Amino acid sequence: MNVPKPVIRKRDENLLFLRQLMKNPKSLGALFPSSNMLANFITSHVDLVADYLIVEIGAGTGRFTQALLRAGVTPDKLVIVELDPAMCVFLRKNFPNVMVVEGDAKDLKNLLPAQVVGSVTTIISGIPMINLSADEQVGVAEACFSILSETGSLLQFTYGPMSPLSSKKLGLRKKRLGHIFLNIPPAVVWRYWRQSPLAVSPLVRKKLNKLTRFKNMMSLKKRKHQPKIEDCA
Ligand SMILES: C[S@@+](CC[C@H](N)C(=O)[O-])C[C@H]1O[C@@H](n2cnc3c(N)ncnc32)[C@H](O)[C@@H]1O
Repeated sequence: MNVPKPVIRKRDENLLFLRQLMKNPKSLGALFPSSNMLANFITSHVDLVADYLIVEIGAGTGRFTQALLRAGVTPDKLVIVELDPAMCVFLRKNFPNVMVVEGDAKDLKNLLPAQVVGSVTTIISGIPMINLSADEQVGVAEACFSILSETGSLLQFTYGPMSPLSSKKLGLRKKRLGHIFLNIPPAVVWRYWRQSPLAVSPLVRKKLNKLTRFKNMMSLKKRKHQPKIEDCA
């Protein structure tokens, strides 16, 4: 689908960001929108597998939305969720083909259309997790995993060196994907996914099945060659 890319004036974007930051510093959690460098980095870690479906939470002025569209994501495969009503007006104006949902990410399951729930392949989060209480963090993370598919994952950036989510407490696996210095402040990107054995990708699952079949075959062969009791008599 050939969709015209939005042209967003940086000045309008920064002004809106600053205005909303003064109203709600904890929820905004940054002085500026993310850099294109960070947006491109996080986008490069989205698996555009067949049937991909992406949800962006805490979209702000749409820096990640722009990067996703630039990378070839089609607007009908993207839903964005944002808490701030003024940001939502900005997002709807600049991304008229993308579904923009106004609401709190902790209510994702109720906010999104039923057909999206359980089918999301990647969530990109711009929510400043480190500004949330432990309970709020758990609420948002659980909401994310309630809409992700079994093999889906959550991409989250943060400004500190540590993982912004407690993977242990949430029963998740995590990987630090990289450090982006060209951002104010420099950011680190993490991936989280389910710990359950069902969460492995189809390719890994195929390899594991092959390995199990091979092991079973070997133990069968071993048993065949073991002397029977009557043979020893
Ligand atoms: C640091 S800004 C990031 C904006 C954008 N993703 C970027 O990287 O430039 C955080 C955004 O998350 C939104 N936000 C914070 N808490 C939220 C929540 N619980 N649900 C949805 N959006 C939230 C804020 O309104 C703000 O727009």
